[in-house]
Amino acid sequence: MTPRSLPALPDGVTVEELERLCIELASEAARFIREERPPRMGVAATKSTETDVVTVMDQRSEELLHRLIRQSRPDDGILGEEGADVTGTSGLTWVVDPIDGTVNYLYEIPAYAVSVAVVVGDTRSQGGWTPVAGAVADPCRRLVHHAGRGSGAWTSPEDPAEGVEPTRLSVSAEERLARTLLATGFGYAPDVRARQAEVLLRVLPLVRDIRRIGSAALDLVRVADGSVDAYAETGLNAWDLAAGWLVVEEAGGVVLGAGEGPGSAPGTALTVAAGPALVHQVRTLFVGPDGVTG
Ligand code: IPD
Ligand code: CA
Repeated sequence: MTPRSLPALPDGVTVEELERLCIELASEAARFIREERPPRMGVAATKSTETDVVTVMDQRSEELLHRLIRQSRPDDGILGEEGADVTGTSGLTWVVDPIDGTVNYLYEIPAYAVSVAVVVGDTRSQGGWTPVAGAVADPCRRLVHHAGRGSGAWTSPEDPAEGVEPTRLSVSAEERLARTLLATGFGYAPDVRARQAEVLLRVLPLVRDIRRIGSAALDLVRVADGSVDAYAETGLNAWDLAAGWLVVEEAGGVVLGAGEGPGSAPGTALTVAAGPALVHQVRTLFVGPDGVTG
C-alpha cells in the first residue's frame, strides 16, 4: 500500500521544525496537566451529553496550547476540542486535543494524553486535510510519541535532558483476525453507544480480545508500537485522531475511514488502524453492505 505523500508546505517551513514544535507543545501541556492538577478535580461543564465532561484542566490546557501556538506560528489556524477555531493564512492548521481521555483524567486512571498535530487542508471537510507532523504526549509515562511525514514514528522522553535516545515504532505483524487484540472506544450519546455495543456482540467472538483504554490518541499510539494489533472506532473528531493517524502511518501501519479505496481518510464515520495485512479485515467488521454499522 503506497504511503501518503507530503503535501506542499508554506515556503521555508520544514517537517522537522513542525515535528519539533509538536513535541515541545505536547510535552509542555502534558507537564501542565500533571503538575497543576487541582487536589479535588471536578467537572467544569458537560458538552454533547451528561457523560461528555470537560474539566477546568481541559480548558486551561487548551488555553496554554493556544497561547504557545500564537507565539511560535501566529499565521497558522488552530482547531481545538474545547472551542479553539482560528482560521489562519499560512495554509497550516494546528489540531489539538488538550486532554484526550478526560474521563480517565477525572478518575485518575493513568491513560490520557495531549495530542498536537499540524495539518494541511480544510479541517472542516471530511477527508479534506492531512497531518504533516504530530505528537501524542503521555503525562503518566512521561513519554512523547511523535512523527513527521516521511521521518518515521518515534517515542522520546518528555524531558530531553534525560539524554535517552528516541525509539522507533513499528506496528504489529499480526495477520489473523482471530489473533487480533483490537482496541476500540465509545461515543458519549446513548443511541450511538447502543449501536456500538451491537457491533461488539458480532466482533468479540471473532478476535483475540477487545480493549477500551479510554483515549483514542493512545489507542492509535498502541497500534503504532504494536502493543495492540488494531484499533477501530466510529464518531471520532479531527482532534482525537490527527496526531495518532500520522504516528501509525509512519510506523508502517494503515489508517482508513469509511470510504472505499486505499486513500480513504479516517474521520467521524469510521477510523480503522492496523498493519497492512490486517486493516481491511478489521474494516470489514465495521462496514456492512449498507455502510458503517456502529
Ligand atoms: C474521547 C476518548 C475516547 C473515545 C471517545 C473520545 P475525550 O475523547 O478519546 O477514548 O472513545 O470517542 O471522544 O472526550 O476524552 O477527549
Ligand atoms: Ca478526545
